[in-house]
Amino acid sequence: MNEAIFPLLDYDETSLDAAFIALAEEVRSEIASLQDREAFRLRWLGRKQGRLKLIGDAWLKSAPADARKPLGIRFNQLKQQIEAALATASASPRAAEAKASLDITLPGTVRAPGIAHPLLKTMHEIVAVFHRLGYSTALGPQVESDFYNFEALNFPPNHPARDTQDTLLLAGQLAKPSRDRLLMRTHTSPVQVRTMIAQAPPIRIVVPGKVHRNDAADATHSPVFHQVEGLCVDTNIAFSDLKGTLDHAMKALFGSNVKTRFFPSFFPFTEPSADVQISCIFCGGKGCRKCKHSGWIELLGCGMVDPAVFASVTAERRKLDPADDAYNPERVTGFAFGMGVERIAMVQHGISDIGQFYSGDMRFLEQFA
Ligand code: PHE
Repeated sequence: MNEAIFPLLDYDETSLDAAFIALAEEVRSEIASLQDREAFRLRWLGRKQGRLKLIGDAWLKSAPADARKPLGIRFNQLKQQIEAALATASASPRAAEAKASLDITLPGTVRAPGIAHPLLKTMHEIVAVFHRLGYSTALGPQVESDFYNFEALNFPPNHPARDTQDTLLLAGQLAKPSRDRLLMRTHTSPVQVRTMIAQAPPIRIVVPGKVHRNDAADATHSPVFHQVEGLCVDTNIAFSDLKGTLDHAMKALFGSNVKTRFFPSFFPFTEPSADVQISCIFCGGKGCRKCKHSGWIELLGCGMVDPAVFASVTAERRKLDPADDAYNPERVTGFAFGMGVERIAMVQHGISDIGQFYSGDMRFLEQFA
């Protein structure tokens, strides 16, 4: 319903201006909160009850002859303002949006699919190489006891070998016997022990997972990183099996051209122990900055399972079955290896700063899509 038109008391220019400014202001405020464009059009331009028609009736007809022209000019201006307002209102963002949602010819909204993080990708690749050799996956907890992380792996309490793995201890553990104290596992090797206690040979497992060390972060270290462990225990497992298996794995990961080299090393839980090096994939072994001009890149640790580890496992198994002899080192032997996933991924992709993996920078991550 249209409200009544206020009467025009005077027809001089100032009164006319004041009246039409008030009307224009009315139009502007209605347009600003426009909900229904058609209702607005009818209210102002409707042929029978529109305000322009009513204003015309009320003001034009009773105007003195000399006021008709200035009144008519302002009347037409107001009409043009209303029409212009209607035209721009239809092009307002809200209207444009309504139109777009109906335009079935526009391309759809593209959602980028997620991809595996480069570290996970490399971890899966490593695990897959061993799955193809008949290994299965085993997992273990990140909060581990001193027994599984150290003692059973032939790191006696207070032995200096523990210094090589600067350990994050859980608070409030001192009341417990040393073997039960909890810590963040420093390597995936405790899963070797857990698996052997739980099942008899033959064993072929890979263990991907997160490990923690109290190391300062730099270009090649992170206090949280990832490893893939391997363990094979059976009758007649020799060092040559270890060499053949890892040589195959390195060729599968880095290309059939790479050579491997086994360098004497030390781990308390393997004897003999070795570091595995591959010929530098950047210079082909000639020597470059990446391999510190040696032609070789050190990638992982490995060795034959130390009989002391079999002894710890046997002691645990005999708590359940005093006659257990499944891990008699006279009958079974085994090898183990452990590799850093970050290290392998950095060599694979030529990445020089480990921090890139954890930065969440899409420009870095999208390169692995
Ligand atoms: N656990 C060792 C480390 O983190 C790596 C390793 C695993 C070495 C298995 C030998 C055998 O340094």
